[in-house]
Amino acid sequence: MSIKQALKNTLSASIFHSVRDIPWMIRDWRTKAPIGQGPIPPLRLMFDGPRGYDLFLKMGRETLGFYKNIAGMKPDDVILDIGCGIGRKTLPLLDYLNDKALYVGMDLDRRGIDWLLRNVTSRNQRFVFLHQDIYNKFYNPKGSLIPGLLVLPFPDASFDMVVLWSVFTHMYPGDIAHYLSEIARVLKPGGTLAASFFLYDDEVLSRMKRGETTMDFKYALKDCRTTNPNMPEDALAVGSEWLDSVQHQVGLQTQQRLSGTWTGAAPHAGLELTNFQDIVLAKKL
Ligand SMILES: C[S@@+](CC[C@H](N)C(=O)[O-])C[C@H]1O[C@@H](n2cnc3c(N)ncnc32)[C@H](O)[C@@H]1O
Repeated sequence: MSIKQALKNTLSASIFHSVRDIPWMIRDWRTKAPIGQGPIPPLRLMFDGPRGYDLFLKMGRETLGFYKNIAGMKPDDVILDIGCGIGRKTLPLLDYLNDKALYVGMDLDRRGIDWLLRNVTSRNQRFVFLHQDIYNKFYNPKGSLIPGLLVLPFPDASFDMVVLWSVFTHMYPGDIAHYLSEIARVLKPGGTLAASFFLYDDEVLSRMKRGETTMDFKYALKDCRTTNPNMPEDALAVGSEWLDSVQHQVGLQTQQRLSGTWTGAAPHAGLELTNFQDIVLAKKL
């Protein structure tokens, strides 16, 4: 087990986050952000995924390719990105979306939203960001809003596409089911959901038992599994049959599933970093 994982498995979320950020604050002092690549956050604010300027930019480029070539995003789409973090999958859209499009990013971490408002909305006001103080034991242990009761603050049928990258992997099944019903409500008929998960079925569980997966969801909880009993929201996996049945109930139909490299599968071409988790594309019926 890495030192990072051992700390996550023992410390409270707020202490873990403070300890984790210190070395990156020092690096920010000593490293210069690349110039000429558009806005890019400091390393200390890359709390939402792998840190490093090259990694950050590569993940952004991969995601843009996914949006255009696999998910069918059009330059004038209206998009909701739930759990947009510090915008690693938002920034490449600045050059893709046109002045009829609208991009709404939502997150429970105010640091990311404040940075995005200052650095992105100030350049293009068709990119808007919203902070919501949603409880999550790992990301926001003092949050006041209950995820299972969250109302997305938008009218029905508002969006062409809703995306959630590495967000459902930190949520319990009951909360995921509630989010999916809200997402189905705000998607236009024919609109697309693109979301990443850790999904298991019998075959993945057998591979996990044989040590052939890179994540070991060995702790079973109700309708889900975790790698970390101290803080299950650190990484949560759900059953693929369970997901299918919830999607069916709310009127979302799976179109495509790209198995994540965490299961031992090869990545989808061009998505070497982004396809670590399973990616699900679904359509609103
Ligand atoms: C691993 S990060 C991924 C960030 C971004 N989607 C990306 O892929 O770069 C997970 C993000 O989800 C946010 N998050 C966690 N639980 C959430 C919830 N219930 N609702 C909305 N956002 C949530 C966190 O604050 C964090 O920014």
